[in-house]
Amino acid sequence: MSDKVLQLKLSYITGLRPVVLDELKRLNFKILDEAKDSVFIEFSEEIISKVKKLRSVSRAYLVLQNDTYHPTYISNHKSILGNLIDIVVKYDNFKTFKISCAGADSPEMRSIAKYIQDTYRIEERDEADLKIHIIKPEDIWEIGIQITPRPLSVRNYKVVNMSGAMDPTIAYAVNSFCNLDSAHSYLNVFSGSATLLIEAAQCYPDLEKLLGFDNNKKHLSLSIKNIKKAGLIKRVQVKEADIFDKPNFGTFDAIVSDLPFGMSISKNEDLEKLYTIFVQYCEGVLNNGGRLVIYTSEYELIEPILLKSRFKIIQSLQLKFITNVDAYLRPKIIVCEFK
Ligand SMILES: C[S@@+](CC[C@H](N)C(=O)[O-])C[C@H]1O[C@@H](n2cnc3c(N)ncnc32)[C@H](O)[C@@H]1O
Repeated sequence: MSDKVLQLKLSYITGLRPVVLDELKRLNFKILDEAKDSVFIEFSEEIISKVKKLRSVSRAYLVLQNDTYHPTYISNHKSILGNLIDIVVKYDNFKTFKISCAGADSPEMRSIAKYIQDTYRIEERDEADLKIHIIKPEDIWEIGIQITPRPLSVRNYKVVNMSGAMDPTIAYAVNSFCNLDSAHSYLNVFSGSATLLIEAAQCYPDLEKLLGFDNNKKHLSLSIKNIKKAGLIKRVQVKEADIFDKPNFGTFDAIVSDLPFGMSISKNEDLEKLYTIFVQYCEGVLNNGGRLVIYTSEYELIEPILLKSRFKIIQSLQLKFITNVDAYLRPKIIVCEFK
């Protein structure tokens, strides 16, 4: 990577690389370089609004990389960081800042923090809008600033975050495997707070029938709030129904599901039985030539059930991320078609 060239670093959930590269390619972004779970693209003032609309990327940073940009050097040349801040603050309202760096309490870092506080009149906080980093992720120093106060993966339509709700970038990825450009109808079994439905409706304006069902009243009412906030109440329907009752909503060109697991299903339910009923249900309501795309951490349980079914797995993506309770999740996106 060439030194001193302003770049945008786009980071994504481990495993989503093919989905991110596909989205960037479709939107004609030119990739300059890649690192672990991130890609670099050239920065320009015009590109910022395009980047903010990306669906598969979790966070975007304005970055500079240079062998000399260690904290001591930056504390002696504060304008290098100042120039980055000047660009980022033009695009959003930042009231607080945080610097992430090894040795955040060192005199060098304290002098950088004081410079930011005095120059930009913003307060230093642990939970901050303006997120600055000075790091050496591989063999070169990087200074960077997240370009938005919230990650790109936080969507405006989320009224409240339901525990167990899907990350919207993963919902986008699941939908991207459904061939929705040519589909008319879309079913979301176990729709929860409607992340998948809303992402599908927003990304595929020609999709005619979007329907989800869930057996939990609280989740349904939350999903309706999110759907209303997204302005999609006329296009997206959610129904109260239990998979064990095999509800009849017609047939569909695509079915997606973020399967219930662990605490999100009732204690007495047997997951294997639930998944078996789910697969049988999908066999009955998926149109020929359609796609079933499943998102689950319980792939060891569902894969043998799929093997014995009319479905074949045509693609699998293994993801990895840390939850808000600091535990690692290693879920899979499983793409199926009829055999
Ligand atoms: C993992 S959550 C889905 C979360 C959703 N993707 C979101 O982003 O909010 C699984 C959902 O399955 C629902 N569920 C569990 N058992 C069910 C059943 N037997 N019939 C219908 N829905 C069920 C739960 O209420 C829960 O909302």
